[in-house]
Amino acid sequence: MVFESPLVDASGRQIGWMGSILDITNAKRMEDRERRQGETLAHNARLTMLGEVASTLAHELNQPLTAIASYNAGIANSLAKLGVQDELVLGALQRLGQQAEHAGRIVARIREFLTRREPRHEHCDLHEVIVAAIELLKRDCQRRGVTLDVNLAPDVPAVLADAVLIEQVVINLVRNAADALLARESGRRIAVSSRVAGEFVRIDVCDNGPGLAGLRVEQLCAPFYSTKTDGMGMGLAICRSIVEAHQGVLDASEAPGGGALFSFSLPLT
Ligand SMILES: Nc1ncnc2c1ncn2[C@@H]1O[C@H](COP(=O)(O)OP(=O)(O)OP(=O)(O)O)[C@@H](O)[C@H]1O
Ligand SMILES: [Mg+2]
Repeated sequence: MVFESPLVDASGRQIGWMGSILDITNAKRMEDRERRQGETLAHNARLTMLGEVASTLAHELNQPLTAIASYNAGIANSLAKLGVQDELVLGALQRLGQQAEHAGRIVARIREFLTRREPRHEHCDLHEVIVAAIELLKRDCQRRGVTLDVNLAPDVPAVLADAVLIEQVVINLVRNAADALLARESGRRIAVSSRVAGEFVRIDVCDNGPGLAGLRVEQLCAPFYSTKTDGMGMGLAICRSIVEAHQGVLDASEAPGGGALFSFSLPLT
């Protein structure tokens, strides 16, 4: 840092300049370190709280989920004994059982992640994950009159990631978009796209809903922030933790044509 000031004699006449140079490298370094420590502390506090909430939720949800699975198996057995062969009913029962199991796995994995804070790093085909997530949401979107456009770049390589957790991120973002679109009478659209951007693969979820009212990603992702009557405000907080645990970034901005644009990037290996 450089200071300079005019050098004046007793009569006030400027006779030169006076300068001093101060080395503030260390002070800057300390400042940086303090800021980083502050960010880490805030991040850890967020994760600890999420971990506790997730543990409680997992505990509360496991019992009803186990009950659903065993009632389901019981009904399937009884129907088999009765000789029922209705494809529609048997197929629905089978899917019910699969979904109960899937829900159990999601709860277990999110709890494992939020308490252990380590996602699994396995070769993961992001497009498979996105397609699986969309498959689960398709019917719900149709019912709400939402058109889902999926535009996946053909050249996205596999990443090292936890597929179950990343699927949850996609599902949460698309669900939020579909919720926001309820504010619109018609022409409800969600676009999901992927592309490689430098060392990252980036997934965008864009809607033409009311947008983010100037809120930034930190505010939207704060645990328990929700504008919905039945919202917990945990969706984005968990999404952000999952993405950051993969050394990725979750971001939110206004979409070019109005609406919201949520995106997350994961590092390519
Ligand atoms: N696509 C979007 N457009 C407009 N607002 C959004 C969008 N996505 C999220 N938000 C805002 O961010 C808030 C927080 O979202 P978040 O997913 O964390 O919680 P939630 O959806 O309210 O509840 P839940 O815990 O069930 O997910 C929402 O309540 C909503 O106000
Ligand atoms: Mg949500």
